[in-house]
Amino acid sequence: METETKLLSDSSQDIDIAADILKNGGLVAFPTETVYGLGGNALNPSASQHIYAAKGRPSDNPLIVHIADTAAVYELAENVPDIAKTLMEAFWPGPLTIILPKKEIVPDATTGGLKTVAIRMPSHPAALELIKKSGVYIAAPSANTSGRPSPTTAEHVMTDLNGKIEAVIDGGAVGIGIESTIVDLTGKVPTILRPGFITKKMLEHLIGKVQVDPTLTHPDPNMRPLAPGMKYTHYAPAGELYIVEADNVPEKINELYRKKKFEGFRVKILAPQEHAHYYDDKDVIIVGSTTDGITVSARLYSALRECDDLGAEYIYSESFKDYEIGGAIMNRLLKAAGHKVIYV
Ligand code: TXA
Ligand code: MG
Repeated sequence: METETKLLSDSSQDIDIAADILKNGGLVAFPTETVYGLGGNALNPSASQHIYAAKGRPSDNPLIVHIADTAAVYELAENVPDIAKTLMEAFWPGPLTIILPKKEIVPDATTGGLKTVAIRMPSHPAALELIKKSGVYIAAPSANTSGRPSPTTAEHVMTDLNGKIEAVIDGGAVGIGIESTIVDLTGKVPTILRPGFITKKMLEHLIGKVQVDPTLTHPDPNMRPLAPGMKYTHYAPAGELYIVEADNVPEKINELYRKKKFEGFRVKILAPQEHAHYYDDKDVIIVGSTTDGITVSARLYSALRECDDLGAEYIYSESFKDYEIGGAIMNRLLKAAGHKVIYV
């Protein structure tokens, strides 16, 4: 499909236009507090098929259904356990997705054929207004071309999807910058399928023992992650990305950097603002601050896209573990690096 993609603002009039597009089966990208989503009517199989086509995404990879009030959960899912209610009350609207057994009305096209459905209530005001005004539940994966970093600005969405969707609502840069935490509530023990801003500790504080999908911590090509989307090599920049862990990280990164520069390659370095002075200013890309993890997550995907825009052939990154959200940041960074870590 080649369409002209309208760039809309997040004004009330523009959200009316976007809501009409969704009602008529079209696709609209919109901001959430995590990343931009590519929305279509979740109960309309043809809208879901268009989402897969626009992203170039394998259709076995299920979509998250975005809702604006908790009553919707009971229309979409059955056997909703008490712990789901506890989590909904504590974290919605917000960056938590829960997996529950699906009801008949949710089409297989939306769940990639699974008997479960992923549901989330985003907290971004433009997202909530869009869901309410359209009167539909919005199926929305991240609004990137499959395999690219998730978009954190409307510009990123346009780069990937211009001409493939009807409209984008520009709500500025998002706040969190990495996708929601996904927790599966269909088994005996709640299981985190994708780490995010809401941590295991925060969940356990409310609902007791929570486990983490073992494929997240021990990547093994023979084991399938429980969230189908986690098996794809996401977020990978075109250049070769390495994470460097050493006693003296800047010294080691500079040694690697100089070697590749000498060989004639274009090289970039990812580091927090406080460490920028260790590196050549032409080639350092700043990813947040050492004092606040959200400044890192908010910048990470944008920094990876910049590496591509600048034609980086080698990228050396500091590691960003020492934050509450550090587990989620490192999950994305390790995937982007294809788990290439240089330990010294
Ligand atoms: O923050 C977010 O969650 C963003 C914004 C737009 O809300 N959305 C997002 O969607 O990241 P997407 O499609 O890029 O990632 C959804 C992930 C995939 O890994 C998919 O496999 C998994 O959720 N998923 C969806 N439904 C599932 C289900 N029923 N069972 C297991 N995993 C599921
Ligand atoms: Mg995605």
